[in-house]
Amino acid sequence: MNLKGKRALIMGLANERSIAFGIAKAFKEAGAELGFTYIDAIEKRMRPIAEELGATLITPCDVSKDEDISKLASTIQDKWQNKFDILVHSLAYAEREDLEKEFVFTSRKGFATALDISAYSLVAVTAALLPALEASKGSVITLSYYGAERVVPNYNVMGVAKAALEASTRYLAADCGARGVRVNAISAGPIRTLAASGVKDFRSILTKIETAAPLRRNITIEDVGQTALFLASDSSRGITGEIMHVDSGYNIMGL
Ligand SMILES: NC(=O)c1ccc[n+]([C@@H]2O[C@H](COP(=O)([O-])OP(=O)(O)OC[C@H]3O[C@@H](n4cnc5c(N)ncnc54)[C@H](O)[C@@H]3O)[C@@H](O)[C@H]2O)c1
Repeated sequence: MNLKGKRALIMGLANERSIAFGIAKAFKEAGAELGFTYIDAIEKRMRPIAEELGATLITPCDVSKDEDISKLASTIQDKWQNKFDILVHSLAYAEREDLEKEFVFTSRKGFATALDISAYSLVAVTAALLPALEASKGSVITLSYYGAERVVPNYNVMGVAKAALEASTRYLAADCGARGVRVNAISAGPIRTLAASGVKDFRSILTKIETAAPLRRNITIEDVGQTALFLASDSSRGITGEIMHVDSGYNIMGL
């Protein structure tokens, strides 16, 4: 699959374990030009990786701040002439304590934070960058998880946020389709990343997949990268509003 002549903005690269890194590698190999956003706490770690990938744009964007999202839109206007092809939203956040105690005791603030950063941000960023995506009939890709559909122990408020993210994917797809912009989500199986380290007893989730998923293995960031490449490319031109599972088939199992 070819992304030559296409530009991709990737939000959520933290380190070489990040799903965003798997996606960036696949896009780079397919010939895309890359740009990245970061939050201050991880800039030092991600900048050399982004530079190694030949990024032509590396810019801050904390999605909890409206002014950062506006600035991102201005940067795209200045540096990329307000035109790019692929937006990857690969970020999420919940307070650690909300992933440790029972879901029933989630605080109002913890609930709002998780939903704001992990779900609303997709809406806000898509809206801000829509003119630039519309110019190229672009593709938006976000990352979800099975905890949106079924109860996964300790995933808690993040499962609720992912449910909102998946519904937002469908509503965004409906709005953006007339403008030629597609919006899809990849529901990835569990992968040991920085974000995943916040989920208590994550190891047991990985073990469960190895024994119960049809493919009997956990997925890799490279697996997700290849599916993102498909969703970014013209090969998927008829697909929008879809939640595509990249999970070794785990989601189809009943018992
Ligand atoms: N690792 C898994 O098992 C798994 C499975 C399915 C889906 N996902 C999803 O994949 C996405 C990427 O996560 P990952 O596992 O690669 O972990 P990661 O820790 O590598 O990436 C998470 C990113 O979110 C960013 N982020 C957090 N708060 C932010 C904010 N306020 N503004 C902007 N960025 C912010 C972090 O800087 C980081 O780059 C997330 O949406 C996650 O929920 C992960």
